[in-house]
Amino acid sequence: MNIKSVLIIGAGTMGRGIAQWFCQHGVKVELIDQHLEMAQASGDLIHSSWDKLQSKGKFDEAEVAAFKTNLSIVEMKDHLIDHDLVIEAIVENLDIKKQVFAKLDEIMKEETIFSSNTSSIPITKMAKDLSKSRREKFLGLHFFNPATIMKLVEIIETPWSSKDYAHALYDWFERYGKKPALCKDSPGFIVNRVARNFYGESFHRLENYDQEQVAEIDRVMKNVGGFRMGPFELMDLIGIDVNYDVTQSVWASYYNEPRFRPHKIQREMVDSGRIGRKVKEGFYRYE
Ligand code: NAI
Repeated sequence: MNIKSVLIIGAGTMGRGIAQWFCQHGVKVELIDQHLEMAQASGDLIHSSWDKLQSKGKFDEAEVAAFKTNLSIVEMKDHLIDHDLVIEAIVENLDIKKQVFAKLDEIMKEETIFSSNTSSIPITKMAKDLSKSRREKFLGLHFFNPATIMKLVEIIETPWSSKDYAHALYDWFERYGKKPALCKDSPGFIVNRVARNFYGESFHRLENYDQEQVAEIDRVMKNVGGFRMGPFELMDLIGIDVNYDVTQSVWASYYNEPRFRPHKIQREMVDSGRIGRKVKEGFYRYE
């Protein structure tokens, strides 16, 4: 398999990082969003990240110039239809994702591989109403935040997806320095299922919002547990709203299994708009 061009839909936290990573690996990327300004702002952030990396000596001028030519910000209606791969990274909502894929199914060339970066929605549900040949080329591609740095990519297979495509993608990502993992479609896949308890137990320990306790739990998990980030720092990075959606989705998928139940503090944070780094306020404040 040779991936030369990718269409990325949704230019938020994940779409932006995924776009940057592909451009850095010689792939042409078209990045689109329902709001063109959002895609343009993400394009600006990616360019300024490359400029910073160049000034730190991580990449040279020619490399950064090549990365920049690989990235195109386009309007939703203007994207090309002959990409090798589509990655959907929009809001975590099954109906909206299905609408997007139904539209793409009509216009993209038959060989294009479809994928979703969903954290928790079953890929099978997204693929089920598409044509047989499309379903064979429909997989989950679950990147982690920040996608330029985190090496793991979960490749999620549905009952219809072709093993050939899953294995070819596995090899392709491995060749470019990612650490892929093959995984059958199941709620939360591997990491987001296991991680529910990392967050959930921390919430139960906290019980009510308390800044000092938040910092203490993060400190202990890093210093004693050996985690790179504590649960609350990680939720701020992911987006507390995104994390809350995932928790609800995994909980519902396991028939309201108590181990996966969302916590009231998550809802309180979302209701008050304190959803993490992207708004500069979550469990911590950011300048
Ligand atoms: P985000 O909220 O930062 O960005 C979503 C973007 O999608 C927004 O720019 C929005 O305007 C756009 N969008 C929404 N509906 C659209 C539509 N119908 N057509 C085109 N664009 C649309 O969200 P984020 O965090 O980037 O998450 C995106 C997906 O990636 C979700 O499915 C999430 O579960 C998943 N994910 C998130 C991770 C994280 O750490 N934030 C990690 C791994 C997966």
